[in-house]
Amino acid sequence: MMKIILGGQWGDEGKGKVIDYLAGKAELVVRFQGGSNAGHTVVHDGKTHKFHLLPSGVVQKKRSLIGAGVVLDPRVLIQEINEFGGLTQSELGIDFRTSIIMPWHGLLDIAREGLKKEKIGTTGRGIGPAYEEKASRDGIRFCDLIDEKKLKERISEIYPFRKKLLHGIYQVEVPEQESIFMQYANIGKQLASYATDVSLEVNEAYAAGKNILLEGAQGVLLDLSFGSYPFVTSSQTIAGGACVGAGVSPKIIDEIEGVVKAYTTRVGGGPFPTELLGAEEELGNTIRDKGNEYGTTTGRKRRIGWLDLPLLRYAHRLNGFTGFHYTKLDVLGGVEKLKVATAHEHAGKKFETPSREFEFLGEWKPVYKTLPGFEELSREEWREVVRESKEKGLKALPKNAFEYIKFVEGELKIPTKTVSLGPAREETIFVNH
Ligand code: GDP
Ligand code: IMO
Ligand code: MG
Repeated sequence: MMKIILGGQWGDEGKGKVIDYLAGKAELVVRFQGGSNAGHTVVHDGKTHKFHLLPSGVVQKKRSLIGAGVVLDPRVLIQEINEFGGLTQSELGIDFRTSIIMPWHGLLDIAREGLKKEKIGTTGRGIGPAYEEKASRDGIRFCDLIDEKKLKERISEIYPFRKKLLHGIYQVEVPEQESIFMQYANIGKQLASYATDVSLEVNEAYAAGKNILLEGAQGVLLDLSFGSYPFVTSSQTIAGGACVGAGVSPKIIDEIEGVVKAYTTRVGGGPFPTELLGAEEELGNTIRDKGNEYGTTTGRKRRIGWLDLPLLRYAHRLNGFTGFHYTKLDVLGGVEKLKVATAHEHAGKKFETPSREFEFLGEWKPVYKTLPGFEELSREEWREVVRESKEKGLKALPKNAFEYIKFVEGELKIPTKTVSLGPAREETIFVNH
């Protein structure tokens, strides 16, 4: 069984948590795009793990693979492996074709953002410049990193141009060529034993009937082609990205499940139609604090907004979701009235699913349905709800919380797979179909 798990909004939906509990029944977990711009949180056994590059299945001790579509910062990976207490060759594999983030990528990313009038608010991790270098066919790949001779050749070829660009245009100093080579050759030695062919491994595992999870980073609305361009990341975050990033055929994808926060957040610049601003800003601040909505990678404040059904319908068109995992419903406890955008208006026209209107995302006026809120419960009370759900299913939820999920489910007509009521693995309701 091959299942893709994707962020259904602007990232940080709780993909790490969802992957962690689904990994219990999987044998391989594969990251297929993005890089250390991602920050996926797994909370288990009183421990909080934050992963930027390692697939979130590692906590369940499942084989972790990093696919060719990823841009890999090997410095971050080494740090992550060490923090995790080490990973053996049988626990981690990296596709030999994976693109490598070099020191000049982060410097370029930050320098460019600094000069932009309207900032994207990138994570500064060098993601855009690394994908550009890959597309221009100048990139350094994992197979180069782990081969000293090739690494030296590749760095010698590219470095002078990057230095000129950074120094001449942006007045930024770059570390010396030799010191970069020494550092990366050393890193290459440390990572060499992880080299594999992810595409082959995944295809063979699938043929052997194993369960495989393809773990997306970011979210649909940050997709390079279909997101809120130019306020997007530089990779394909939609389901198709899983096929090109892991090296599998679309024909063997069985399930495509979206992770959807019970409200919406976004970090960085760009339009956000249902953002809580003006009279609602205070409420947004409360939700941010209750939901701990601060970036996992950058610590930045996440912007807070209501759930947006037209954007979820748009996401569904791009992905063909077979199920949704709703997260952070607990955070909405105590909010008196819950608003959900059911449609938007633009240029005097109302629409429920955007097409050309997507171009004018920043000008949309949400049309809201207001639902009654539900009470604030303590963590222990939410855990009690989860215990009761083993018999009652979603009916164990406070009545209005149940109605909220049912309303959204009825509008989108996508089956609910799980509802998450806290950061820990066990704080989850599984819905039986
Ligand atoms: P990801 O990037 O999609 O993996 O999400 P992040 O890890 O960046 O952000 C999600 C945050 O919400 C993390 O701090 C999680 O521990 C936390 N979280 C996930 N699910 C829930 C939930 O149902 N309730 C609460 N209160 N927190 C959650
Ligand atoms: P996870 O996987 C939320 C956002 C940045 C910025 C834009 C471009 O944890 O959900 P980039 O550094 O990729 O060039 O930045 O994308 N962004 C994310 N927002 N979650 C993420 O990852 C993100 N990764 C990038 O804030 O707006
Ligand atoms: Mg995150």
